[in-house]
Amino acid sequence: QSITDACSAALAAHADAEGPLLPILHEVQARLGCLPNAVFPIVAEALNISAAEVHGVASFYPDFHTAPAGQHRLKICRAEACQAVGGRAIETMAQEIFGVAWHGTTDDGALTLEPVYCLGLCACGPAAMLDNTPVGRVDAAALQQIKAQVQS
Ligand code: FES
Repeated sequence: QSITDACSAALAAHADAEGPLLPILHEVQARLGCLPNAVFPIVAEALNISAAEVHGVASFYPDFHTAPAGQHRLKICRAEACQAVGGRAIETMAQEIFGVAWHGTTDDGALTLEPVYCLGLCACGPAAMLDNTPVGRVDAAALQQIKAQVQS
């Protein structure tokens, strides 16, 4: 589906709703798999707001992605309880091991690295989630194992 078609369909479905921006962005993302930059001016014009405003909303909510995500998603907890047990070192290590910054996808498209703020796994931090699988007490070995797993 083209960007224009996806935007038209989402606008037709939600433009008349109260607070239409979020449902529109969700629908465009569901249709395209992500929210490419070209979406923002189209939606902005239809809603009579600025493209910067649309972009701001899209970047505020972690559910929205401006680039296609990798095959796997690794979420690393950055909240307090995990930070207290070495989470910050794990964040840096993960970025080094996968060679990406937050929200980045590895060159082979295998993995996207995302920050989260509490996964409800505080008792076994530093915590992470690979796709839908919780990973507790993350250390260098666990990250290497995840790397081997997603690249196999
Ligand atoms: Fe990390 Fe709750 S603070 S899982």
